[in-house]
Amino acid sequence: MQAIGIDIGGTKIAGGVVDENGVILAEERVPTDASDPQGIVDEVVAMIERLRAGHDVVAAGVAAPGFIDAQQSLVYYTPNISWRNEPLRRHLTERLDLAITIDNDANAAGWAEFRFGAGRDVSDMTVLTIGTGVGGAIVSQGRLFRGGFGAGAELGHLRVVPDGLPCGCGAHGCIEQYGSGRALLRMANEIADVGGIGLALAAARTRDGKLTGHTVGRLIAEHDPGALSALRQLGFWLGQACASLSAVLDPQIFVFGGGVAEAGELLLAPIREAYLTHLPARGYHPEPDFVIAQLVNDAGVVGAADLARVHATAR
Ligand code: BGC
Ligand code: NA
Ligand code: ZN
Repeated sequence: MQAIGIDIGGTKIAGGVVDENGVILAEERVPTDASDPQGIVDEVVAMIERLRAGHDVVAAGVAAPGFIDAQQSLVYYTPNISWRNEPLRRHLTERLDLAITIDNDANAAGWAEFRFGAGRDVSDMTVLTIGTGVGGAIVSQGRLFRGGFGAGAELGHLRVVPDGLPCGCGAHGCIEQYGSGRALLRMANEIADVGGIGLALAAARTRDGKLTGHTVGRLIAEHDPGALSALRQLGFWLGQACASLSAVLDPQIFVFGGGVAEAGELLLAPIREAYLTHLPARGYHPEPDFVIAQLVNDAGVVGAADLARVHATAR
């Protein structure tokens, strides 16, 4: 049985037809204009129409980068797109004759990792997606945790710094401001300002007019000391947050997805170090594994489709 998964991201919308083994049978991507929420809805409708034309699908799951309600129909709030109490499912079902479910993007990606990727062999898994924002997914005893109002597992908005930097969610000091791709760029710029180990970052910034995630990623891969220093700061904050998450969730595995996770072991090493420094009952508490996501770019599409398929066939 096949379903469609759509993943609405900050820079692109990805969609695919996915079978029950998590295999993508057809896929497309278009750039997103985050400043045009109506245009995003139109694009999602068009993409679902195109994808379903060639396939016999039972449902479509749409993953959005924000707080979703328990009925999986309303987007309460998106920090990086201007949706506020947006009845996304209604807007889609009015135009499409197909069962639709809405999910949080990180929940969808995390579910895909649990079913088909890094979390296949565990019952309890915590996922952090490190992209423009920081997304979270929790699988506890084999089930995706959603909370009472549906908007649980918003792990990017854990407060790590009292009265710290303002966040797109309206609060201050969220891990999203210290552990995201945007935070990495801010830290890289700060290091470039100082000179010293920041020389290569500063040179790239002068050459291109500004630092981009792509450039910082390349310098990380080349083991540039300035870029690595920024990545270590990110790891320090993420590792501390994971130590607190262990006290609440006690997962067997922490999985890191999103663009910044392409840094691989260079990101995981400082995370593990900070985690162990801050872990309650260190030395006595069993240590979870820290790994990089396996489905990376496709996780949102695969997870959204799988959740929609399960939902549609359970009725
Ligand atoms: C949003 C989450 C989302 C994450 C990644 C955060 O700012 O609050 O809902 O999962 O970004 O897109
Ligand atoms: Na989530
Ligand atoms: Zn926040």
